[in-house]
Amino acid sequence: MIKIGFLGFGTVNSGVYEGITETLDYLESVIGEELCITKILIRNKCRYVDVANFELMTDRPEDFFSNEFDIVFEAMGGEQPALDYITLLLMKKIPVITANKELVAKHGPLLENLASKYNSFIGYEATVAGGIPIVNTLNSQLQWSAVEKVSGILNGTTNYIITKLANGKRSFESVLKEAQQLGFAEADPTADIEGFDALYKLQILCKLCFGSWVSEEQFQRKGMSHLKSWHFKAGEALGLKLKYIAEAYYDGREVHGTISPCFIDKNHPLSAIENENNGVHIKAAWLGDFVTVGPGAGKRPTATSMIEDYLHQLLKKNNQTNRKKRVKAYLPDSQQFVIF
Ligand code: HSE
Repeated sequence: MIKIGFLGFGTVNSGVYEGITETLDYLESVIGEELCITKILIRNKCRYVDVANFELMTDRPEDFFSNEFDIVFEAMGGEQPALDYITLLLMKKIPVITANKELVAKHGPLLENLASKYNSFIGYEATVAGGIPIVNTLNSQLQWSAVEKVSGILNGTTNYIITKLANGKRSFESVLKEAQQLGFAEADPTADIEGFDALYKLQILCKLCFGSWVSEEQFQRKGMSHLKSWHFKAGEALGLKLKYIAEAYYDGREVHGTISPCFIDKNHPLSAIENENNGVHIKAAWLGDFVTVGPGAGKRPTATSMIEDYLHQLLKKNNQTNRKKRVKAYLPDSQQFVIF
């Protein structure tokens, strides 16, 4: 039996919980073992008295760590206590799947070393661009075709705000509140609107694209809370779009990166990405330009990344390649017209 633990039970981990319970039969058939959710560590138990899985919850770390686990999903956010908890788990050879970009950006080398030293794994697909499967793609592809530049819209909350402000009818505060209610924003939205969240994601992308971890001092960061309607109007008048862009390149000696609001051409590959969607644009030798776009924030996309990451890491560790595919019926899109 595979015993599953959860560190944190906010938007992301409650999505992982629901995803696992909804597709339990499929997951058990792929993994070949029964799955059992054993314990959930939360900060304040009183907040959860009405939920169905209340008996699995504890707010006492010693209670959580007295259980046995085969996998732990971490989505508490922040550096501590997440770092101590994950260190402890990896040292006990327990694999971890995390959505915590601040932790991975700041402590990636330590976490990867611990995972390798204790023959475990740490999966962090969900740390970059929500549901877009970019982390494991870059980890297994583009080894040979050298990346020249990576750029992206890496924060769903700020792209959502910018999309709504661009049509000129809403205030910054009301759109931010909506993004929080929709589960896109961080617990403290300062991380989103001041660009720390995009910075952490760019640091992780740089490791995947350029091969080594880069410290945050190598990046210039400007927030977007100062944007006013005249910025959007000025862009419009010039035929340009305002977007919040994170970008990095390697100059042959070191990596340079910026996170800031930018005017981009309407034909730019990132210009049409709206709402909470994210996009990653990579320029690589021989390959040329490669763009991937999808939901960058929210419960279901991020939970998808966490569950996919778990399967990916587990099957890789077990050298299993014969993946079963989960199939789902689909009704053709009525907005699509086929021309014969
Ligand atoms: N707050 C983040 C965002 C969540 O808005 O992109 C996903 O990482």
